[in-house]
Amino acid sequence: MNLLGDLRDFNCDPLAAMERAAARPSHLLHMGPIAVRLVVEPAAVYTILTSASNAIGRDAIALAAARKLLGTGIATTEFAEHREHRQAIKSAFAQRVIAEHEAVVQSEADRVFAEYGVPLKRRLEQFAIRVTARLLLGSDIEDTARIESATNEFHTSMRTEFRSPIQAVLPDWLPTRVKGATRRAKRELRIAVNEVLAGSHPTGSDVPSLMARFPNSTPELVASQTTNLLVAGATTTVPFLEWMLRHLSQRPDLVSGLQADFENASGRIIRETLRLTPPAWLVGRQAREAVDTPALKAHKGEFLYLSPYLTHRSAEYWERPTEFVPERWTDGFEDALPRGAYFPFAAGSHACLGGGIVYMEGRAILRALLNYWPDRARIEHDGFIPDPGFTLGAAGQTMLIKV
Ligand code: HEM
Repeated sequence: MNLLGDLRDFNCDPLAAMERAAARPSHLLHMGPIAVRLVVEPAAVYTILTSASNAIGRDAIALAAARKLLGTGIATTEFAEHREHRQAIKSAFAQRVIAEHEAVVQSEADRVFAEYGVPLKRRLEQFAIRVTARLLLGSDIEDTARIESATNEFHTSMRTEFRSPIQAVLPDWLPTRVKGATRRAKRELRIAVNEVLAGSHPTGSDVPSLMARFPNSTPELVASQTTNLLVAGATTTVPFLEWMLRHLSQRPDLVSGLQADFENASGRIIRETLRLTPPAWLVGRQAREAVDTPALKAHKGEFLYLSPYLTHRSAEYWERPTEFVPERWTDGFEDALPRGAYFPFAAGSHACLGGGIVYMEGRAILRALLNYWPDRARIEHDGFIPDPGFTLGAAGQTMLIKV
């Protein structure tokens, strides 16, 4: 018997390994000693995220790995503890509050394309970090180098720990390469967050500063909550924006739609990018209690992987599933989908709080791009090869080249 099961395959090419496992009658992926069930069917996905969420928590292995690095915060807690975190900060994400910062977000987006021929990934990282720090933490930071490096270290560490459940249970002090990366990520994140917290905080009641939301909290809690938000905001937005630029490179014909009706056309482009290349490609869960519903049966302790990447590309629910077709998002299209067929931001008690920010960022980048593309510049990139780490990146570089 192969003790590693699918682990080696998963490490080499996680998307292909998941696709193969999803095609098996058992839907099981054998991650070494741990069997994980891939749940692709929308009704079961929706049940896990919503009505069964009192019995189904986060994937305990990934949670432990994330908690080591991010500390205690909204993205690393569950059940009653998580509800308290969510309650404390959710008003900072209200549409009305976010909308006040539209001009700042636009001016940051305009900076992304300030130079031709430079890798845009780094520019997008700076953009995402500045927007998250400003909108949620009331902090203005010009020099983002430390946070960029910290979030990249986080990404590397999570990728290794997550792809090897054995690593995740080994102690962090072990003098190995993987554990060295974890220690570095932890250290870098701590330093970077202290910089954000020390950044200039424009005063005024309109700034939804996280600090103001925890009047009685300890400095540790504020620091870890800040880490949670910075990582949640930056690690997902960068791949989303980079994928959007790459998809657009194939479709200069979309410009006329954007010029005629920016709001609707941009919404369709954003939705389709999040369908075809969802940054949160894997959402891990684990049943803390047995679940027995018509849509889902799970035994206590069972690991369940939900994959927007797989469900969004299933030919059972989508026409031309592997093509970029923003036109499919006509009025009423999303409402007609089976619940759980489209879940780039998950759903239910852990649904992403940053959706409004993502749409604002996506639209700001599209507006900035329209000053150049396609008449004055074209988008060049290394193709459509996904790079699945903690989030679903795009392999290689993307650039804006003068024409
Ligand atoms: C395209 C970009 C984004 C995508 C695809 C995305 C996706 C997701 C997903 C799938 C979850 C649920 C994870 C789970 O249930 O295990 C989540 C949670 C979360 N996201 Fe996002 N996200 C994005 C951007 C953002 C941004 C910009 C922020 C702002 C800081 C943000 C803040 C959060 C927070 C705070 C949570 C935790 C919610 C909770 O557990 O209650 N996200 N996100």
